[in-house]
Amino acid sequence: MAVSIERTLILVKPDGVRRALVGEVIRRVETKGYQISALKMIQPTRDLFAVHYAEHDGKPFFEPLLEFMLSGPIVAMIAEGNRVIEGFRKLAGTTDPTTAEPGTIRGDLARDQGTKVVQNIVHGSDSVESANREIAIFFPELKGN
Ligand code: RTP
Ligand code: MG
Repeated sequence: MAVSIERTLILVKPDGVRRALVGEVIRRVETKGYQISALKMIQPTRDLFAVHYAEHDGKPFFEPLLEFMLSGPIVAMIAEGNRVIEGFRKLAGTTDPTTAEPGTIRGDLARDQGTKVVQNIVHGSDSVESANREIAIFFPELKGN
């Protein structure tokens, strides 16, 4: 398969930070063989999350999603590697943690808690376009690098 070095944006969401799973997420990314090239803990504004999740604006879970993402600090990181976008989505597992495969971050570490929006530990970019857009949102200081 052709080499395709990519970057992806990973977020440890507020539930992951609250449950002290930052190290566990990093461990899974690093032991898979991806390189973390930037990392920070932040508490972004509502506007920033609204831009990040703009594709979901108007959906019933949009407001609960923003409320959840604002409920505590998050950890943002950039991971790099050949096909890392697809690879991290695979490590994360499917959106619904109840049915996410065991062995994945969401399948092993989360479950549906009956909350208004599903809390599933991590975010990962879903395409090269999304990754570029999201990295610019969360790491504006890296612009041009
Ligand atoms: P993410 O963007 O956070 O990595 O998650 P994803 O690609 O797996 O899922 P996406 O469809 O982009 O949805 C973003 C987040 O919104 C919440 N969500 N709730 N039907 C629902 O209740 C629903 N659908 C989505 C989840 O927190 C999801 O991660
Ligand atoms: Mg998504």
